[in-house]
Amino acid sequence: MPAKIPSVRLPGNVQIPALGLGTWLLNGEKCASAVKASLELGYTHIDTAEMYNNQVEIGNAIEGFDRKRLFLVSKAWSNHMHFNDLINACEKTLGELGTDYLDLYLIHWPNPKVPIAETLKAMQQLKNEGKIRAFGLSNFTIPEIEQALQTSKEIATNQVEMHPLFRQGKLLEYCNSKNIPITAYSPIARGKVFQNKTILKIAERHGKSPAQISLKWLLQKGTIVIPKASSKEHLEQNLGIFSWKLTAEEIQEIDSIREEVRLVNPGKYVRRIAGFFLT
Ligand SMILES: NC(=O)c1ccc[n+]([C@@H]2O[C@H](COP(=O)([O-])OP(=O)(O)OC[C@H]3O[C@@H](n4cnc5c(N)ncnc54)[C@H](OP(=O)(O)O)[C@@H]3O)[C@@H](O)[C@H]2O)c1
Repeated sequence: MPAKIPSVRLPGNVQIPALGLGTWLLNGEKCASAVKASLELGYTHIDTAEMYNNQVEIGNAIEGFDRKRLFLVSKAWSNHMHFNDLINACEKTLGELGTDYLDLYLIHWPNPKVPIAETLKAMQQLKNEGKIRAFGLSNFTIPEIEQALQTSKEIATNQVEMHPLFRQGKLLEYCNSKNIPITAYSPIARGKVFQNKTILKIAERHGKSPAQISLKWLLQKGTIVIPKASSKEHLEQNLGIFSWKLTAEEIQEIDSIREEVRLVNPGKYVRRIAGFFLT
């Protein structure tokens, strides 16, 4: 029997499954088989992006599954932030995925060279036309979200790096105050949490894996988690995070971890965007 995954309500009354499958660096046959295996196990939420170059494979993998039960998320890259470019990027993504609509469409990275109001107006048009059910942000800082909120009150999520070694305390507090749930990417820090003593101790206490402790801490913070997994063992393990809880003391212990690891360096990305991708 496929697992039942609880949902988080996004602004605009769209329900997003709290656990999704991340697909960055999943390509070709490996991508198609991981996505298919995940759907058979009960995942419905798949996270992709035009930049991941795997939307055709995902489109093939979801064929035969009931579209209405799926939750497909994609992201537009930074060189598609002008109004018409975003509309065209979305059409291309829909074609590659073989679907009429996305459940959620995100701005992958802020682009300081295009007014956010222009991009959000294109998002709103896509929503009005039924091509996306909701839209949101990724990698936005507090001042950048403030700016986005001046144009739209319909921002559904901010997808950012978050895990026990990069806790995003201030951003989480701010997003909570604006009712914008965070989607946590790299939620197990690509395995870096497995060496942390606090995580290992709590994992042993619960008879769970360090990956499960990391994901559970994020869920109990109210975030949505999108671990990437390609093996059936990992896919199954990451589903086993719903029928038990960390105590308030354990959450506090993880909140107090001093080690800090940031995997995605925004400086590097901003430079790449500014240097190579902006038109
Ligand atoms: N918006 C953005 O800018 C952005 C940036 C980065 C990532 N993302 C999204 O977030 C997703 C997840 O982030 P990520 O891929 O960077 O890192 P991650 O999910 O923290 O880590 C993925 C790695 O952990 C392994 N793994 C998964 N479950 C495991 C388990 N239970 N036990 C042990 N190892 C396990 C995977 O191995 P196997 O593959 O071998 O199973 C893979 O090597 C991405 O795929 C992407 O969709 C978004």
